[in-house]
Amino acid sequence: MSWVSIDQDKCNNCGICALRCMRCFSNTDGEITAHADEDCCNLCGHCIALCPTDAITHSQMDMSNFTEVNDQISYDTDEFIQLIRQRRSHRSFKDREIPRNDLEKLVDMCRYTPTGSNLQTVQIKVISNKEKIKKLSDLTIDYFMEMINKIESQVKQLSLEKKEIPKELREMHDFANRYRMLGLARDIGMDPILHQAPAVMLFHSPSSSSTPKDDCVIAAQTVVLTAMTMGLGTCYIGLLNFSANSYAPVKEELNLPSGNKVGSILVLGYPKLKFLLTVDRKPIQVEWEV
Ligand SMILES: Cc1cc2nc3c(=O)[nH]c(=O)nc-3n(C[C@H](O)[C@H](O)[C@H](O)COP(=O)(O)O)c2cc1C
Repeated sequence: MSWVSIDQDKCNNCGICALRCMRCFSNTDGEITAHADEDCCNLCGHCIALCPTDAITHSQMDMSNFTEVNDQISYDTDEFIQLIRQRRSHRSFKDREIPRNDLEKLVDMCRYTPTGSNLQTVQIKVISNKEKIKKLSDLTIDYFMEMINKIESQVKQLSLEKKEIPKELREMHDFANRYRMLGLARDIGMDPILHQAPAVMLFHSPSSSSTPKDDCVIAAQTVVLTAMTMGLGTCYIGLLNFSANSYAPVKEELNLPSGNKVGSILVLGYPKLKFLLTVDRKPIQVEWEV
């Protein structure tokens, strides 16, 4: 039984569906038939969205969620570039809650971001509980402090034994030194991980998915830009991303479905600071082969 049915009274046999999807449609001498099932159809919905006579119905999709494309809206390229240039990482937030409705809008929008093989496996955890946010920050600092101590004792031991410190360990030592300030910042009442943000969004996905990390990052970046239109500032938090995938106490606190990995993390809130200028960045290294 095909997931897709064609209303023969509406179909004008234009063949657009078969042109777009040879796997689920056949065009035999101008007559179109659909044979979509789990073996060929990845639920992209393109056949329905392209059909000029509204003749296609899909049994596995919510047909009421196919809405008319509004091609009257024009998006100004320079304005859009300006939005991208004005995006900044914010690490200082007003003590103001984000309305649940806005958070729900941001989450719902992630349904429409692209995913590898259209698997749509991205899941989101939204945390706005202050104690929980503080605990995740503390545990992440603990994780980095443990890592630094381990690296330091290895370096110390090798030095005592007058052995050469391998390049990899030396690099890790330099890297770890940069994170020593996390503990110092905590000691003076700062939150150097989640920046006392009113909300944290974790994007996770089963590792077995086609492109789990990419899917999470694409969803996160879409949230970043949309959040700007709501007056919200955001910042990616790679430090929690590290601990969330490798440190048991953080994993336990997050309690994500087993087999899932965190692909991206954002903090969100109303910025305390207002950037007055866009910033300089290195030119992109590009190679044109024309
Ligand atoms: C993948 C990723 C991870 C990041 N992790 C952190 C983080 O853990 N903590 C933090 O304060 N900023 C983090 N940042 C923010 C970067 O430091 C920031 O993007 C960079 O300094 C450039 O500043 P801008 O975002 O304002 O252009 C991260 C950014 C990216 C893209």
